[in-house]
Amino acid sequence: MLAVAYAVDGSAVRQRLGLTPKLDVPYVTTRSVTVDAMLDMAEVEAGDYLIDLGTGDGRILIAAAHDRGASGLGVDLDPVLIRQARDEAADLGLSDRIDFIEQDLFETPLGEADVVTLFLLPEVNLRLRPRLLAQLRPGARVVSNRFDMGDWEPDEERRVAGYPAYLWIIPADVSGTWQMEFDGRTAILDLGQQFQQVSGTATIDGVSRPAIVNLVGESLHITLDLANGQRFFEGRIDGDRLVSTNEDSWSAMRTGGEVAKG
Ligand SMILES: C[S@@+](CC[C@H](N)C(=O)[O-])C[C@H]1O[C@@H](n2cnc3c(N)ncnc32)[C@H](O)[C@@H]1O
Repeated sequence: MLAVAYAVDGSAVRQRLGLTPKLDVPYVTTRSVTVDAMLDMAEVEAGDYLIDLGTGDGRILIAAAHDRGASGLGVDLDPVLIRQARDEAADLGLSDRIDFIEQDLFETPLGEADVVTLFLLPEVNLRLRPRLLAQLRPGARVVSNRFDMGDWEPDEERRVAGYPAYLWIIPADVSGTWQMEFDGRTAILDLGQQFQQVSGTATIDGVSRPAIVNLVGESLHITLDLANGQRFFEGRIDGDRLVSTNEDSWSAMRTGGEVAKG
């Protein structure tokens, strides 16, 4: 009976036999043009480790490994799809770089991923969102076919074959109070943050003005309005320090507020 069910490979048959685990998302495939767009958006390249949550037949991870040299892991609750993905990876000689396992995507550790790929559902994305933000390193990329992340605005949105695809870049935590030194002067930056959106003020010589901060992963641009015009700073966050990433000599130390992620 079991052999017949797998030979027919009909999910309806497996469902009737009670062989299919309870899924949070039904099996629908991503079109190859969308797979390519998602991998482009995430700038997947050799050396990247990709985790494909709800991998289905593994097409996203297989394309990432085959076309771009990535390695990674695909997880799905459907054992038949996992077997299919593994067989395809083996046929293409990719088994040393990618693996597929039967696992609930809400139990998959994400910390190793440079890129996470999704084709799930809006409410599943929302349930997954805290895990993505807590476990992925700043600068890691998340791409989703079709569905967004609620009020976490994407860093990029593209329309592919009539549907949206989204990219998010995990932001570093820059919230708090920073003491910034530049040109022999001191500025106190008070920064608030929601996802990658940062707003705040800079207080210099007792005068507070808006500070404009652009944050992408752990890189940031700060624009300060000074009495003699605007001053730009290009830097990178390193724990509780902001360091310059060009010749410009400036730095900042976090003196208050919490670091949400290490
Ligand atoms: C819309 S399909 C996407 C398949 C594939 N990623 C693609 O884009 O072609 C969603 C997949 O998620 C899997 N799935 C649903 N709930 C899951 C869960 N809790 N853990 C792991 N996989 C799950 C389903 O079996 C299905 O293969």
